[in-house]
Amino acid sequence: MKPRYLSYLGYRLLRRSARFQRFVAHFAQLALESYLIQDFINRPYGAAYGLSPDDRARMVARFRHIVAMVPSGTSALFHTILAREILSLPPTMSGDVIECGVWKGACSTSLSLVCQATGRRLFVADSFQGLPGSAPYRYPVAHLQSYDYLEPGQFRGTQNEVRANIRDYGCLEVCSFLAGWFADTLPQLDTPLVFAFLDADLESSTRDCLRSIWPLLPTGGLVYTDDAANMEVVRIFFDDPWWQQQFGEPAPGFIGSGSGLPVLPLSSTLGYTCKQSRETLDGWRRVYNHSFLPLQ
Ligand SMILES: C[S@@+](CC[C@H](N)C(=O)[O-])C[C@H]1O[C@@H](n2cnc3c(N)ncnc32)[C@H](O)[C@@H]1O
Repeated sequence: MKPRYLSYLGYRLLRRSARFQRFVAHFAQLALESYLIQDFINRPYGAAYGLSPDDRARMVARFRHIVAMVPSGTSALFHTILAREILSLPPTMSGDVIECGVWKGACSTSLSLVCQATGRRLFVADSFQGLPGSAPYRYPVAHLQSYDYLEPGQFRGTQNEVRANIRDYGCLEVCSFLAGWFADTLPQLDTPLVFAFLDADLESSTRDCLRSIWPLLPTGGLVYTDDAANMEVVRIFFDDPWWQQQFGEPAPGFIGSGSGLPVLPLSSTLGYTCKQSRETLDGWRRVYNHSFLPLQ
Protein backbone atom coordinates (compact mmCIF):
# COMPACT_ATOMS: atom_id res chain seq x y z
CA MET A 1 0.00 0.00 0.00
CA LYS A 2 1.22 3.50 -0.77
CA PRO A 3 2.18 5.63 2.28
CA ARG A 4 -0.59 8.09 1.31
CA TYR A 5 -3.26 5.37 1.83
CA LEU A 6 -1.54 4.17 5.02
CA SER A 7 -1.65 7.63 6.51
CA TYR A 8 -5.33 7.99 5.46
CA LEU A 9 -6.10 4.65 7.13
CA GLY A 10 -4.18 5.77 10.24
CA TYR A 11 -6.19 8.98 10.29
CA ARG A 12 -9.50 7.06 9.98
CA LEU A 13 -8.49 4.80 12.88
CA LEU A 14 -7.30 7.70 15.03
CA ARG A 15 -10.45 9.63 14.29
CA ARG A 16 -12.49 6.89 15.94
CA SER A 17 -10.37 6.92 19.08
CA ALA A 18 -11.97 8.83 21.98
CA ARG A 19 -8.53 9.62 23.37
CA PHE A 20 -7.48 11.20 20.05
CA GLN A 21 -10.67 13.26 20.00
CA ARG A 22 -10.03 14.46 23.54
CA PHE A 23 -6.47 15.36 22.52
CA VAL A 24 -7.73 17.37 19.52
CA ALA A 25 -10.38 19.12 21.65
CA HIS A 26 -7.75 19.98 24.28
CA PHE A 27 -5.39 21.29 21.61
CA ALA A 28 -8.16 23.38 20.02
CA GLN A 29 -8.98 24.84 23.43
CA LEU A 30 -5.34 25.71 24.11
CA ALA A 31 -4.99 27.32 20.68
CA LEU A 32 -8.18 29.39 21.02
CA GLU A 33 -7.33 30.44 24.57
CA SER A 34 -3.80 31.51 23.67
CA TYR A 35 -5.16 33.45 20.65
CA LEU A 36 -7.64 35.33 22.89
CA ILE A 37 -5.02 36.03 25.58
CA GLN A 38 -2.46 37.24 23.02
CA ASP A 39 -5.12 39.41 21.41
CA PHE A 40 -5.89 40.93 24.84
CA ILE A 41 -2.22 41.61 25.56
CA ASN A 42 -1.17 42.89 22.15
CA ARG A 43 -4.10 45.02 21.06
CA PRO A 44 -4.48 48.40 22.76
CA TYR A 45 -7.32 47.48 25.14
CA GLY A 46 -7.26 50.04 27.93
CA ALA A 47 -4.75 52.35 26.20
CA ALA A 48 -7.19 55.17 26.94
CA TYR A 49 -6.58 54.40 30.65
CA GLY A 50 -2.78 54.37 30.15
CA LEU A 51 -2.40 50.57 30.05
CA SER A 52 0.54 49.06 28.15
CA PRO A 53 0.95 45.49 26.82
CA ASP A 54 3.09 44.73 29.91
CA ASP A 55 0.28 45.94 32.18
CA ARG A 56 -2.20 43.66 30.38
CA ALA A 57 0.20 40.69 30.53
CA ARG A 58 0.61 41.28 34.30
CA MET A 59 -3.18 41.45 34.62
CA VAL A 60 -3.60 38.04 32.95
CA ALA A 61 -0.89 36.57 35.20
CA ARG A 62 -2.77 37.88 38.25
CA PHE A 63 -6.09 36.45 36.95
CA ARG A 64 -4.38 33.04 36.61
CA HIS A 65 -2.98 33.31 40.12
CA ILE A 66 -6.42 34.28 41.48
CA VAL A 67 -8.20 31.24 40.01
CA ALA A 68 -5.37 29.02 41.27
CA MET A 69 -5.80 30.37 44.81
CA VAL A 70 -9.58 30.96 45.08
CA PRO A 71 -12.31 28.42 44.20
CA SER A 72 -13.97 29.91 41.14
CA GLY A 73 -16.99 29.29 38.96
CA THR A 74 -15.27 31.14 36.13
CA SER A 75 -11.88 30.73 34.45
CA ALA A 76 -8.98 33.17 34.03
CA LEU A 77 -9.94 33.28 30.34
CA PHE A 78 -13.45 34.50 31.22
CA HIS A 79 -11.93 37.10 33.56
CA THR A 80 -9.75 38.24 30.64
CA ILE A 81 -12.78 38.57 28.34
CA LEU A 82 -14.62 40.63 30.98
CA ALA A 83 -11.50 42.78 31.46
CA ARG A 84 -11.24 43.30 27.69
CA GLU A 85 -14.83 44.53 27.55
CA ILE A 86 -14.50 46.91 30.52
CA LEU A 87 -11.21 48.29 29.20
CA SER A 88 -12.91 48.91 25.83
CA LEU A 89 -15.47 51.25 27.40
CA PRO A 90 -14.36 54.86 26.89
CA PRO A 91 -13.25 56.77 30.00
CA THR A 92 -15.82 59.41 29.05
CA MET A 93 -18.57 56.90 29.81
CA SER A 94 -18.84 57.43 33.54
CA GLY A 95 -20.17 54.77 35.86
CA ASP A 96 -19.25 51.76 37.96
CA VAL A 97 -19.08 47.99 37.60
CA ILE A 98 -21.12 45.37 39.46
CA GLU A 99 -20.83 41.62 39.89
CA CYS A 100 -24.02 39.91 41.09
CA GLY A 101 -23.33 36.40 42.40
CA VAL A 102 -19.74 36.12 43.58
CA TRP A 103 -19.39 32.82 45.55
CA LYS A 104 -15.84 33.05 47.04
CA GLY A 105 -15.07 36.25 45.13
CA ALA A 106 -12.59 34.98 42.52
CA CYS A 107 -14.08 36.92 39.63
CA SER A 108 -14.69 39.97 41.86
CA THR A 109 -11.01 39.87 42.76
CA SER A 110 -10.04 40.04 39.07
CA LEU A 111 -12.66 42.70 38.38
CA SER A 112 -11.34 44.77 41.30
CA LEU A 113 -7.98 44.97 39.49
CA VAL A 114 -9.71 46.12 36.30
CA CYS A 115 -11.69 48.71 38.27
CA GLN A 116 -8.51 49.92 39.95
CA ALA A 117 -6.95 50.37 36.48
CA THR A 118 -9.97 52.26 35.12
CA GLY A 119 -10.86 54.38 38.16
CA ARG A 120 -14.28 52.75 38.62
CA ARG A 121 -15.91 51.29 41.74
CA LEU A 122 -16.84 47.63 41.92
CA PHE A 123 -20.08 46.64 43.62
CA VAL A 124 -19.87 43.09 45.00
CA ALA A 125 -23.43 41.78 45.43
CA ASP A 126 -24.35 38.44 46.97
CA SER A 127 -26.48 36.86 49.67
CA PHE A 128 -23.22 35.44 51.08
CA GLN A 129 -25.47 32.46 52.01
CA GLY A 130 -25.40 30.70 48.65
CA LEU A 131 -28.31 30.14 46.25
CA PRO A 132 -31.84 30.96 47.48
CA GLY A 133 -34.81 28.60 47.50
CA SER A 134 -36.03 25.64 49.47
CA ALA A 135 -35.77 22.80 46.98
CA PRO A 136 -33.20 21.51 44.46
CA TYR A 137 -33.56 22.95 41.03
CA ARG A 138 -32.81 21.42 37.63
CA TYR A 139 -32.48 23.40 34.42
CA PRO A 140 -31.99 22.23 30.84
CA VAL A 141 -28.75 22.89 28.99
CA ALA A 142 -30.30 22.43 25.56
CA HIS A 143 -27.10 22.82 23.51
CA LEU A 144 -25.40 19.94 25.34
CA GLN A 145 -28.64 17.96 25.72
CA SER A 146 -28.06 17.75 29.45
CA TYR A 147 -29.28 19.22 32.74
CA ASP A 148 -27.58 21.19 35.49
CA TYR A 149 -28.62 20.59 39.06
CA LEU A 150 -28.52 23.28 41.74
CA GLU A 151 -29.34 23.24 45.43
CA PRO A 152 -30.33 25.94 47.94
CA GLY A 153 -27.25 27.17 49.80
CA GLN A 154 -24.91 26.02 47.02
CA PHE A 155 -21.99 28.35 46.22
CA ARG A 156 -21.91 29.84 49.71
CA GLY A 157 -19.03 32.18 50.44
CA THR A 158 -19.12 34.40 53.52
CA GLN A 159 -18.53 38.12 53.19
CA ASN A 160 -15.37 37.74 55.32
CA GLU A 161 -14.00 35.08 52.95
CA VAL A 162 -14.72 37.23 49.91
CA ARG A 163 -13.19 40.33 51.52
CA ALA A 164 -10.07 38.36 52.49
CA ASN A 165 -9.65 37.01 48.95
CA ILE A 166 -10.03 40.43 47.35
CA ARG A 167 -7.64 41.95 49.94
CA ASP A 168 -5.01 39.22 49.39
CA TYR A 169 -5.12 39.03 45.58
CA GLY A 170 -6.97 42.11 44.28
CA CYS A 171 -7.84 45.63 45.35
CA LEU A 172 -10.31 45.91 48.25
CA GLU A 173 -10.21 49.72 48.24
CA VAL A 174 -12.33 49.98 45.05
CA CYS A 175 -15.05 47.59 46.34
CA SER A 176 -18.43 48.27 47.93
CA PHE A 177 -20.39 45.30 49.28
CA LEU A 178 -24.13 44.72 48.85
CA ALA A 179 -24.90 41.86 51.23
CA GLY A 180 -28.33 40.21 51.08
CA TRP A 181 -30.87 38.98 48.53
CA PHE A 182 -30.69 40.93 45.26
CA ALA A 183 -34.38 41.89 45.52
CA ASP A 184 -33.61 43.72 48.80
CA THR A 185 -30.14 45.16 48.15
CA LEU A 186 -30.02 46.19 44.48
CA PRO A 187 -32.96 48.66 44.60
CA GLN A 188 -30.70 50.76 46.91
CA LEU A 189 -28.24 51.33 44.07
CA ASP A 190 -28.50 54.79 42.56
CA THR A 191 -25.11 55.37 40.90
CA PRO A 192 -24.65 54.97 37.14
CA LEU A 193 -23.22 51.60 36.04
CA VAL A 194 -21.39 50.84 32.81
CA PHE A 195 -20.88 47.10 33.18
CA ALA A 196 -22.68 44.32 35.03
CA PHE A 197 -21.59 40.70 35.35
CA LEU A 198 -24.55 38.57 36.42
CA ASP A 199 -23.64 35.10 37.63
CA ALA A 200 -26.70 34.25 39.69
CA ASP A 201 -27.53 30.84 38.14
CA LEU A 202 -31.30 31.28 38.60
CA GLU A 203 -33.89 32.93 36.39
CA SER A 204 -35.63 34.67 39.32
CA SER A 205 -32.33 36.06 40.66
CA THR A 206 -31.33 37.31 37.20
CA ARG A 207 -34.67 39.10 36.83
CA ASP A 208 -34.11 40.72 40.26
CA CYS A 209 -30.70 41.95 39.06
CA LEU A 210 -31.94 43.32 35.73
CA ARG A 211 -34.89 45.12 37.35
CA SER A 212 -32.49 47.36 39.31
CA ILE A 213 -29.43 47.44 37.05
CA TRP A 214 -30.89 48.08 33.59
CA PRO A 215 -32.20 51.61 34.37
CA LEU A 216 -28.74 52.56 35.72
CA LEU A 217 -26.92 51.67 32.47
CA PRO A 218 -26.25 54.29 29.78
CA THR A 219 -26.48 53.59 26.07
CA GLY A 220 -23.52 51.32 25.30
CA GLY A 221 -23.58 49.82 28.82
CA LEU A 222 -23.05 46.06 28.93
CA VAL A 223 -24.62 43.17 30.82
CA TYR A 224 -22.58 39.97 30.71
CA THR A 225 -23.68 36.70 32.27
CA ASP A 226 -22.12 33.34 32.95
CA ASP A 227 -25.52 31.71 32.42
CA ALA A 228 -25.67 31.71 28.60
CA ALA A 229 -26.27 27.94 28.57
CA ASN A 230 -29.25 28.22 30.91
CA MET A 231 -32.21 28.66 28.56
CA GLU A 232 -34.44 29.90 31.38
CA VAL A 233 -32.04 32.79 31.97
CA VAL A 234 -31.56 33.43 28.24
CA ARG A 235 -35.34 33.56 27.72
CA ILE A 236 -35.54 36.64 29.98
CA PHE A 237 -33.63 38.69 27.41
CA PHE A 238 -36.29 37.92 24.77
CA ASP A 239 -39.28 38.32 27.08
CA ASP A 240 -40.85 41.39 25.39
CA PRO A 241 -43.91 41.74 27.66
CA TRP A 242 -41.62 41.74 30.75
CA TRP A 243 -39.26 44.39 29.29
CA GLN A 244 -42.19 46.53 28.19
CA GLN A 245 -43.73 46.25 31.63
CA GLN A 246 -40.49 46.89 33.57
CA PHE A 247 -38.78 49.49 31.38
CA GLY A 248 -41.19 50.46 28.61
CA GLU A 249 -38.86 49.13 25.91
CA PRO A 250 -38.52 45.96 23.81
CA ALA A 251 -36.39 43.05 25.04
CA PRO A 252 -32.76 43.61 23.99
CA GLY A 253 -31.98 40.00 22.98
CA PHE A 254 -28.91 38.07 24.05
CA ILE A 255 -25.65 37.34 22.23
CA GLY A 256 -24.49 33.79 22.85
CA SER A 257 -27.95 32.35 23.52
CA GLY A 258 -27.73 28.69 24.51
CA SER A 259 -24.21 27.93 23.30
CA GLY A 260 -22.31 30.94 24.67
CA LEU A 261 -19.72 33.22 23.09
CA PRO A 262 -17.09 31.52 20.89
CA VAL A 263 -14.35 31.62 23.50
CA LEU A 264 -14.19 27.83 23.91
CA PRO A 265 -14.24 25.36 20.99
CA LEU A 266 -17.53 23.56 21.73
CA SER A 267 -19.63 25.87 23.88
CA SER A 268 -19.22 28.40 26.65
CA THR A 269 -21.42 29.85 29.37
CA LEU A 270 -20.53 33.48 28.67
CA GLY A 271 -22.97 35.76 26.84
CA TYR A 272 -24.10 39.36 26.91
CA THR A 273 -26.44 42.08 25.89
CA CYS A 274 -25.80 45.74 25.23
CA LYS A 275 -28.06 48.68 25.92
CA GLN A 276 -28.53 50.24 22.50
CA SER A 277 -30.30 53.46 21.67
CA ARG A 278 -33.13 53.21 19.16
CA GLU A 279 -33.85 56.91 19.00
CA THR A 280 -30.71 58.49 17.57
CA LEU A 281 -27.68 57.69 15.43
CA ASP A 282 -25.61 60.54 16.94
CA GLY A 283 -22.08 59.28 17.53
CA TRP A 284 -22.37 56.63 14.79
CA ARG A 285 -20.91 56.64 11.30
CA ARG A 286 -22.38 54.96 8.23
CA VAL A 287 -20.01 52.26 6.90
CA TYR A 288 -22.36 50.72 4.36
CA ASN A 289 -25.72 51.85 3.10
CA HIS A 290 -27.59 50.14 5.96
CA SER A 291 -24.79 49.65 8.49
CA PHE A 292 -23.44 51.96 11.22
CA LEU A 293 -20.43 51.70 13.56
CA PRO A 294 -19.57 53.82 16.63
CA LEU A 295 -17.48 56.91 15.82
CA GLN A 296 -14.59 56.08 18.19
C1 LIG B 1 -22.26 30.39 40.54
S1 LIG B 1 -22.10 31.37 41.98
C2 LIG B 1 -21.13 32.73 41.41
C3 LIG B 1 -19.74 32.34 40.93
C4 LIG B 1 -18.79 33.52 40.81
N1 LIG B 1 -19.27 34.53 39.90
C5 LIG B 1 -17.43 33.06 40.34
O1 LIG B 1 -16.98 33.48 39.27
O2 LIG B 1 -16.80 32.26 41.06
C6 LIG B 1 -23.74 32.04 42.14
C7 LIG B 1 -23.86 33.04 43.29
O3 LIG B 1 -25.11 33.73 43.17
C8 LIG B 1 -25.58 34.06 44.47
N2 LIG B 1 -27.03 34.31 44.36
C9 LIG B 1 -27.92 33.68 43.54
N3 LIG B 1 -29.15 34.21 43.67
C10 LIG B 1 -29.04 35.22 44.56
C11 LIG B 1 -29.98 36.17 45.07
N4 LIG B 1 -31.27 36.16 44.70
N5 LIG B 1 -29.53 37.11 45.94
C12 LIG B 1 -28.23 37.12 46.33
N6 LIG B 1 -27.29 36.22 45.88
C13 LIG B 1 -27.69 35.29 45.01
C14 LIG B 1 -25.18 32.87 45.31
O4 LIG B 1 -25.07 33.22 46.68
C15 LIG B 1 -23.82 32.46 44.69
O5 LIG B 1 -22.76 33.03 45.40
